[in-house]
Parts: sequence; structure tokens; C-alpha cells
Amino acid sequence: MNIRRYLEQKVSQAMVAAGLPEGSNPAVRPSARANFGDYQANGIMGAAKKLKTNPRDLANKVLESLDLSAEAEKIEVAGPGFINIHLKPEWLASLLESDERLGIAKTDQPQTVVVDYSAPNVAKEMHVGHLRSAIIGDAMVRTLEFLGHKVIRQNHIGDWGTQFGMLIAFIEEQQAEVSEMDLSQLVKLYQAAKKRFDDDAAFATKARDYVVRLQGGDEGFRKIWKQLVDITLKQNQGVYDRLNVSLTPADACGESFYNDRLASTVSTLQEKGMAVESQGAQVVFVEEFNNKDGDPLGVIIQKSDGGYLYATTDLAAINYRTGELNVDRIIYYVDSRQAQHLESVYLIARKAGFAKPETQLQHHPFGMMMGDDGRPFKTRSGENVKLADLLDEAEVRAAKAVAEKSTDLSDEEKAAVTQAIAMGAVKYADLSKNRTSDYVFSWDSMLSFEGNTAPYMLYAYTRVCSIFRKADIEMASLTGTPSIIEPQEKTLALNLARFEEAVEILSEEGVPHMLCNYLYELAGSYMSFYEACPVNKDDVAADVKQSRLLLCKRTADTLKQGLSLLGINVVEKM
Ligand code: ARG
Repeated sequence: MNIRRYLEQKVSQAMVAAGLPEGSNPAVRPSARANFGDYQANGIMGAAKKLKTNPRDLANKVLESLDLSAEAEKIEVAGPGFINIHLKPEWLASLLESDERLGIAKTDQPQTVVVDYSAPNVAKEMHVGHLRSAIIGDAMVRTLEFLGHKVIRQNHIGDWGTQFGMLIAFIEEQQAEVSEMDLSQLVKLYQAAKKRFDDDAAFATKARDYVVRLQGGDEGFRKIWKQLVDITLKQNQGVYDRLNVSLTPADACGESFYNDRLASTVSTLQEKGMAVESQGAQVVFVEEFNNKDGDPLGVIIQKSDGGYLYATTDLAAINYRTGELNVDRIIYYVDSRQAQHLESVYLIARKAGFAKPETQLQHHPFGMMMGDDGRPFKTRSGENVKLADLLDEAEVRAAKAVAEKSTDLSDEEKAAVTQAIAMGAVKYADLSKNRTSDYVFSWDSMLSFEGNTAPYMLYAYTRVCSIFRKADIEMASLTGTPSIIEPQEKTLALNLARFEEAVEILSEEGVPHMLCNYLYELAGSYMSFYEACPVNKDDVAADVKQSRLLLCKRTADTLKQGLSLLGINVVEKM
């Protein structure tokens, strides 16, 4: 159950009963301090201001209609007109009854959602700039699926455009055998082709001519192009697998897919009077945005030479996703520098009817990964850091930490812990930061066993597991409802019961850091519980032990499920 939403409904009903207009916002929030109760309704002050009445009197009136006798042990008016809600331990306990889904029901309004994420370019290696889209998008995908939505993963790879004409012309000239190449060889070929393109005008003309032939469907060209795509996808798949990102080659639906839909996209926009000719190109002017001169922003959808652009493809993609895939929601994990591109595409798509009014189009932008010098994270010589190299280094560093810390594990166990820590650290360090801001990449802080880090979270999980090993009880076999007596038990129970709040906000706003913060707080309240409430001591009564073990199990299950929504695997021993 989402407690916050539940209480919000209750207070909202009481507000209406107290004479406030339907839809007044009760603003229920978890309380900042325990003496303010577990939740607070802060919306009465705002409502009173609108009605020009005394907020405390109004709060008392709302309180008269607020029936929380089953849920709360005390509700009171505080300060200028807050309502503080102190929940009953029994009620919290009832929310923790054994349940595989940890109290989170599947949604009764399932949506079909396209998540557009990762999207690297063909014939290039993924670098650290590609990390955020892949792992934030994947956390979202996993969360939406857990809640019962139908998710269509779409990896909008950059597999179309001038660069392929250039590559094919160069391959032909060099008589290069592409089928035997791996991606790093392909990247070298790309660089050489680019140099040739920049240096030799005749070659550049040929390259442009080849793009037209490729896009026109030339079979031989298509065959070479397909090889280039496959080499890239194969290499990227290795990175996804290492990172536990759930994309597969079948999810690649790149720019080339829309090739046959581009002409009709342009003609539709022309028919609707939205695309107009400007200096030989087809342009849609977007009133909502201004260019440098203060005039409406012009989005080019077809160049004067007939070529189509990135924006044209994105428009065709929206049309396809809404019209043929019948989606309710499309979410884009693309870095914040593309915000205006996407916003203008959304505006055009809506006006043209490519997206229905009810289709949600959402850009979830993210900031950059920075080095400790405050500039974009690069190698010492100023190049982009390859993602595969970053993961290699994470493994080396994690292995060192494990060798120091986990001395009594077998080699096999050590390898598993190393993997979990290495990939967990890289992912968690990113996911735990506010998506929209830049963050500083730091090996030391991400591999630390203290603070809001993957090693700490993974360690917290193993601590719970070790209690069961000591008690010689199999965790999975334990069922029932705990009884909440001690204050630390109540705090832990409250945090456990809040899981759905964190999952739901993630599914709505694409904010994995909210789930990380939640899990970190949960782990903290478990540590306090563990200090205060022994489980395996001899003088602990059997029923108390059983109840505490139930709290331990729920904690372990919640940590494991929460981390798994973030695409992070746990280990039982460390
Ligand atoms: N390939 C693009 C890039 O590297 C990202 C594509 C994002 N998705 C989209 N539908 N535009 O910048």
C-alpha cells in the first residue's frame, strides 16, 4: 500500500466534509521529526488562506471528520494548522504480512509504455557519456514492468545518415573485409574514412552520393551497412550484459527503421500547412520557441538536397509508436542538451496529430558525469573513457577491496562479490544522484563501505542474511505478521511499509535516486533495530524472535527487490 496516498485520500475526504472545495490539496508528507508523528497533512494552511479563515480552527474542523481510528493511535492539530498523524504499530504490522510483492499490488491501470534509452551510435564505441541513459532507463523499465505496465524497450541507435555513405565508400576504396572486424577495428576505419572525407572533396561527394543510394535501398550497400550495425550491436551487448542492462539486440529500433516513413512524415506536415519552404528546405516554425534573433524557431525536416534530419526521424518515431504500437506513454532518456530538440518535436507531433492529446511524451533529461576537476570526465589525454574500460577498472578496484575485506570467502565467492560490488558501485553511484544534475565521478566514494553506496547497501543485505544463517532458519520458509513493540521496530516497520511510495514516485518521474535514498534510510533503520533488538540471543523469547526475524526477512526482501529494480544484484555473503 502507498500509505501517503491512502492518508491523502482520507484527509481529502475530511476536508470536503469540513466544507472545503472538492480537490483541495491535503499535502500529506512523511514527518520530518518523530514528535510530529509519522505523517503530516500540511494543506490546511493553504486552504484557510484562500477562504480567509483561521487555519487552526479549520484544521480542528477537518479533524472532526477525519476517521483514522483503525490506522492511527493519535491525530492532532499542531503549530499554525498542521495535522500530525501518529500511526498504530498494529496497523503498520498488518501492512507487513508476508507477501511476495512486498505489499505492492500491480497497477489497475496498466499502460503500454515505450522507453527510448541507451541509443548509442553505430561504428562508435560506447563511452561514459552513454552510461546514464542506459542504466537510468533500465531502472525505469524494470520498475514499470514490476508495477504491471507493458514496456516496449526501444534502443534508438544512430544507424543512419551521411557517415554510412562515407564508410561504405571508404570500405569499397580500401577493399576492406568488414565481416571479420571487431568494433575497435571498425572505429579505426571510421576515423580514417572521416579524414579522407574531410581532406578530399571528390571523396566527400561520392560519400554523399552513396548515402542516397543506401537510403534508396541498394542491396549491396545494405549488406555492408548491416554488417556495420551487427558488429556494433554485438560489442554493445557485451557491455549491457556486464552492466545487467536488460536490452537485447531485438530492442534495437534505430533511425534506419524509420527510413520508409520519412517522406510521408514530411508530406503530412506539408498538407497540414505546418511545413513551409525556406531557402529550399522544408521547415516547421515553432512559435513556442525563439531562435537567437527572437523569431520563431525553425525546425528543418528536409534539407534542400532532399535529405532528412534527426528531427524528422523522431517525428516519424512518435507517429509509429502512437499509431502502430498504440502506446500511452513514451519516455526518453536523453541528456539534457537535447531538451529543446525533444520539446519542439513533441509540440510538432501534437499539432500534427502524430501523438494523441492523451499520449504522454516525456523527456527525462540527465546531467553529465564530471571528473574531479569539474570538467566532463575524460582520460588524461582528453579522450572519452570507453565504457568497457571503465567497467574493467571497476572490477580491478573491487577485487582489491574484496581481497582486503572478505578474507574468509572461497575464490568463487570472492569473484561473485567482486562482480556485484564493481557493477553495483558504478551503477549505484550514478542512480543515487539527482538525475537532472551533473555529478562528480569518484572511485573512492563509490567503493566506500560507508554512506549511500552500493558496497554499503550490499553489505547491509548480507548482514540480514547472516542472522538467518546464525539462527539456522531458512529465510524463505518464514511467514507471518510481525508484532511491533520497540520504537526501533516501529521505525523499521514504517520504513518497510513505505516501499511502494518510493517505487511509485520512480515510476512516475523516473527518479531512481528517490529509491536509493529510500533504501539507504531503510538500511539505516535496520542497523538501529539490529543494535537495539537482538534476535539470536538466548534470552529472547521464541515469539519475539519469530517476530524480529519476520522484520529481518522483510528488510532483506525489500533491499533485494529494490536493488533489483535498479538493476543491481545482491550476494548473500561478503
Ligand atoms: N543517438 C542519439 C545520440 O547519440 C540519441 C538518441 C535519443 N533518442 C531519440 N529518440 N532521439 O545523441
